Amino acid sequence: MAKKAVGGSVSVDPSALTSRDFTPWFGDPTVIKRILVAFKLVGNVRLIGETGSGKTTIVYTLDDLANGGAYAGSTKSFYADRKHNVKALDDAFWKKYLGQPWHLYTYSLTQDTSRWDLVATQTLRGGTVDITPGPIQKWLEDTTPGVTKVLLLDEYNYASAGVTSLLNELADFRKTITVSELAIADQSAVESGKSDMDRALWGKRERTSDHLLITTENPYDVTSYAGTNPPNIAQQNRFIPVEVPYMSFNDEIQMCLKAVGGDASLRGQVNDIVTLATQIRQKYREHQLSMVLSPRNTQQLSRILGETRDFQIILDTMVDWFPAQDKNEIRGLSPKAKV
Ligand SMILES: Nc1ncnc2c1ncn2[C@@H]1O[C@H](COP(=O)(O)OP(=O)(O)O)[C@@H](O)[C@H]1O
Ligand SMILES: [Mg+2]
Repeated sequence: MAKKAVGGSVSVDPSALTSRDFTPWFGDPTVIKRILVAFKLVGNVRLIGETGSGKTTIVYTLDDLANGGAYAGSTKSFYADRKHNVKALDDAFWKKYLGQPWHLYTYSLTQDTSRWDLVATQTLRGGTVDITPGPIQKWLEDTTPGVTKVLLLDEYNYASAGVTSLLNELADFRKTITVSELAIADQSAVESGKSDMDRALWGKRERTSDHLLITTENPYDVTSYAGTNPPNIAQQNRFIPVEVPYMSFNDEIQMCLKAVGGDASLRGQVNDIVTLATQIRQKYREHQLSMVLSPRNTQQLSRILGETRDFQIILDTMVDWFPAQDKNEIRGLSPKAKV
């Protein structure tokens, strides 16, 4: 089982990865290279990509690798294999850019996420205010030497203006950060006798070069567009953007072949699943469909195919996936049509 979220996963997002279905991200090595180089030089990275492109998986993969986890060996050999056009992702590369263990703090944002949710939550208990550190407080207060502390804020396009401004303050690197919510939390800890922090230090924390910040966002999230926010200039300024594309057609076929259980006689039908998904993605980008099938979904469909060996079930499941206004469009697709 994958070892992840060493620093303690703070929020559990029901749609997020679980260690049960965690498999390492395999894809364009340049994406990994860009992330790690930007981490080293700037410390703040924005991953941009469609749903299921593997943004969250990339972060867990790097965490697994940094901590010598269950998949470290196979990930390293994938990225060292020259057939993936890799030159630099050898041991020397990993040592230079991922040289020490990670503590990973994660939080998945929703429209309702407030600054307080991220910094610290207050609960009133028996007349006194109890402060529970949130991901940002835990991340900033992790001063373990020789460890990279990574804060992953997933689904960042749901960030409210307040959360965005907090993040922009945190994104200013290597300096003392003052967070007003933390100042209140510190004051409350002192007043309840849990801390003797000097008043002058309330709310202040040091962000070091070992504190890395990464956000993920889906620019195509049109189904819930009302609640999402485009990045503002301040964020664009402070974060290095890295686009995460869907895996290649061939890699997706390989992944799906594994999911059907390696039965070569199903290869043609696996090919049809991925072809249909590719057509659906194209139509989605052209706004002819209101949602998309990701590699996560083609993997699930392939598992169902492996189990049932009944392609009609696959087609019916695809149609059932979509809302009423899209169903005819889906029924009209043919894997034989050109993509
Ligand atoms: N390049 C890839 N390599 C390995 N698995 C992938 C890849 N792209 C997608 N997947 C699969 O799709 C699932 C969804 O990925 P996820 O990281 O949750 O995407 P995102 O965060 O971009 O929505 C993962 O569980 C993984 O199994
Ligand atoms: Mg994700």
